[in-house]
Amino acid sequence: MLAEEPSTAGVFRRFWPYLRPHRVIMTVALLASVASTAAVVAVAAAIGWGVDAVTAGDRSRLWWAVALLTAVVLARLVMLRWSEILLSDAGERTIRGLRDLVVERLARAPLRFIEAHRTGDLLRRSTGEIADLTLFLRDQLPNLLGVTLTIGLTTVMLLVYSWLLSLLLIALFLPIAIAVLAWFNRASPETFGRQAAADAAMTATFTESLTAQEALVAPGRPDEWVRRFRADNDELLAANDRAVAVQSRLELFGLLEGLATAALLLLSVWLVRAGQLSVGTVVVFVLATRNLFESMLTLSGLAGQAQLARVGLARLVDLLDALPPADPPPASSPAPDLPPRGDLVAERLRYAYAPGADVVRDVSVAFPAGDRASLVGVTGSGKTTLAKLLTGLYEPDTGSVSYGGIDLRTASPEQVRARIVLIPQQVHIITGTLAENLALAPGTPDRAAMARAVELLGLTEWVARLPGGLDADLGTRGERLSAGERQIVGLLRAALVDPPVLLLDEATADLDPEVAGRLETAVDRLRSGRTLVVIAHRPATIARLPRTVRVEAGRLR
Ligand SMILES: Nc1ncnc2c1ncn2[C@@H]1O[C@H](COP(=O)(O)OP(=O)(O)OP(=O)(O)O)[C@@H](O)[C@H]1O
Ligand SMILES: [Mg+2]
Repeated sequence: MLAEEPSTAGVFRRFWPYLRPHRVIMTVALLASVASTAAVVAVAAAIGWGVDAVTAGDRSRLWWAVALLTAVVLARLVMLRWSEILLSDAGERTIRGLRDLVVERLARAPLRFIEAHRTGDLLRRSTGEIADLTLFLRDQLPNLLGVTLTIGLTTVMLLVYSWLLSLLLIALFLPIAIAVLAWFNRASPETFGRQAAADAAMTATFTESLTAQEALVAPGRPDEWVRRFRADNDELLAANDRAVAVQSRLELFGLLEGLATAALLLLSVWLVRAGQLSVGTVVVFVLATRNLFESMLTLSGLAGQAQLARVGLARLVDLLDALPPADPPPASSPAPDLPPRGDLVAERLRYAYAPGADVVRDVSVAFPAGDRASLVGVTGSGKTTLAKLLTGLYEPDTGSVSYGGIDLRTASPEQVRARIVLIPQQVHIITGTLAENLALAPGTPDRAAMARAVELLGLTEWVARLPGGLDADLGTRGERLSAGERQIVGLLRAALVDPPVLLLDEATADLDPEVAGRLETAVDRLRSGRTLVVIAHRPATIARLPRTVRVEAGRLR
């Protein structure tokens, strides 16, 4: 299970391997950014040199100072632009790689994993969290680096100019600055973690409500939708308020800047009088202190963003780590081939969605090649779960399913899909045409194959009646089809795979008789020689099949 607010400890270390393909370009970009920052610091030094030249009345030194200043400013412009371009390019590449990786891993994730999580949460992790990270890598990371470097280099420069004045500044203000940062850091992981979790919960509720229009938007029910949404929205507001409060702790830096400049000027007047310091150095100090505090202020703003990105990254890495890599290392022995025909045998299957609550309990059942059987039982007895186990969509907690004597877990998933096909109770239809939906069948069939399948199942007339035939638009997620018609699409997909074993999870007990008739004909036509198991809700279906397997509370009777 994924954590709502996973720990952010060591998240960059855990993320590092995912950055591997992009490390070189990242490093080059960061070096360019260091160079441009060094130029910023050099500006103050060049000005200080010029001021000293003026006070000493040294014209040629002044010209040199002006030339140096111009060169430094130009160099900085070029470096800054270049590093920005490099960094944003590196950022975009990294993000594209990550997005591919997440989708690839989600696509191969066990069904159990996907079902156990809210769609909106997975959506938020694989899009929102990545978008936040894009923003961070592209905009905030360069700033963060620049600012951190400015602070470091400025401090070094100041120490070189006057260690006495620098030490005084450091002794006075560093402890306060550290205390402010510590105060911010104490609250930030929890605060920003809560913010991200609240955001994800809101996305999840919204996605679920939107796809449950029938239940929620039906006349008289919109209040329910709004009520569900409002609770999450309020929590998000509270989490955001808290984040703003924590963020504002950092604004104390602005106050510190004023104090530091005043203290600095007082001290320098004294030091210049005592002959310890040149006026140029004082100018450098005033300019640099401003730089320093401005950087700290920016840094404090960025620290909040960084914390947010860190939390998002933790949630993303949590997802990536929970999903197995796409290409498991090749096993010592290659996956055994499943025979074209074989018996489907389940032995002592157990399966629980939640620990301790078995939904399938100790089921052993065999369907010999060519068998025709119905699977019956009251609603919630575990028929669909058993069907998903028999087709290898779920891995049993204990026990095994074999086809032709070979355990499904040891065979390649592609072969299992080609041999054993389940037409689910709710056939999933994507928004698009019938042909686009049929193209989802394994092996991406062409139109000729689709037409043959339609012909084979005796559905020519049904397809012809759809406006546009194979190119008929099925509406958003197939809303134009009835439950029975969706199953017809499922059957067509199965016919395109032409599997030796077919399981059909009948949609409902009360199919429209015409659609039911078409389904029955289609199943009959598809059947010859193959194993057929129908999870039956209608007496007519049960009567048409020679054998009945009864499920009661997860056991066979
Ligand atoms: N994804 C899931 N997560 C948690 N529990 C589930 C899930 N799917 C099913 N269950 C539970 O498992 C039990 C068996 O469900 P299953 O869908 O297998 O029943 P069924 O016999 O197919 O019912 P129906 O005739 O209504 O289709 C039920 O108690 C159900 O609440
Ligand atoms: Mg069911």
